[in-house]
Amino acid sequence: MMGLLEFKELCKEYRRGGRAFNAVNRANLSVEPGDFISIIGRSGSGKTTLLNMGAGLLKPTGGSVFFEGHDIHRLNDEEISFFRNEKIGYVPQGQSLLSNFTVFDNVCIPWFLFKREGDAEGRAFILLEKVGISHLAASYPRELSGGEMRRAAIARALINSPRILIADEPTGDLDVQTTAEIMRLFKAIAEEGTAVLIVTHELDTLDYGNKTYTMDAGNLSPHAA
Ligand SMILES: Nc1ncnc2c1ncn2[C@@H]1O[C@H](COP(=O)(O)OP(=O)(O)OP(=O)(O)O)[C@@H](O)[C@H]1O
Ligand SMILES: [Mg+2]
Repeated sequence: MMGLLEFKELCKEYRRGGRAFNAVNRANLSVEPGDFISIIGRSGSGKTTLLNMGAGLLKPTGGSVFFEGHDIHRLNDEEISFFRNEKIGYVPQGQSLLSNFTVFDNVCIPWFLFKREGDAEGRAFILLEKVGISHLAASYPRELSGGEMRRAAIARALINSPRILIADEPTGDLDVQTTAEIMRLFKAIAEEGTAVLIVTHELDTLDYGNKTYTMDAGNLSPHAA
């Protein structure tokens, strides 16, 4: 049985100053629908590199990423773009909203990247309500706090009803209370059946997920409680 998302012996080798090193070293992971998986690790341990390969944004130098049984890095560029847009909600590390668009338009953009029928606007409003910022729909990113921008990026990641939400340090630089609110939101999303995969270097986010892994110098292993 294949999981929703599977990493098999996944590797990324980088070169720097004439030396090669594995930023990700033979990582194995299986994500099922409804899972809420957290990966914790120090800065530079390879977390973003791992997520970017899992989301189809970065080519591995070894191993494979299977999504619903398909090896996604064997798709061509156009196929992989469509696939990502359709199946994966991605919240990048840091600020990622487009500054010249309102919050509302930012949330709608992934819908219109590929031709779709249906009520994008209605859906965007429901999502903005869900993440608690519908009152900011007409605002621009520069008018938002860090936590509000993060919520907008989460709403944007959900607009196409992905099978999995992948978030890179979604609570980095947020206060304890806002962090807890965002974690509860992820938990609710996972309970609705969308898998959630996050990386973080904060231990206080671990209570919310159902599985935790540690990333240490490129090595991924189940977290010993
Ligand atoms: N394009 C690249 N070329 C060479 N080395 C890279 C490249 N991108 C990342 N690295 C290195 O790979 C390692 C892992 O980087 P990565 O961004 O995955 O870490 P991270 O765990 O996400 O860190 P942080 O918590 O600070 O975001 C780091 O040592 C980084 O310097
Ligand atoms: Mg990172």
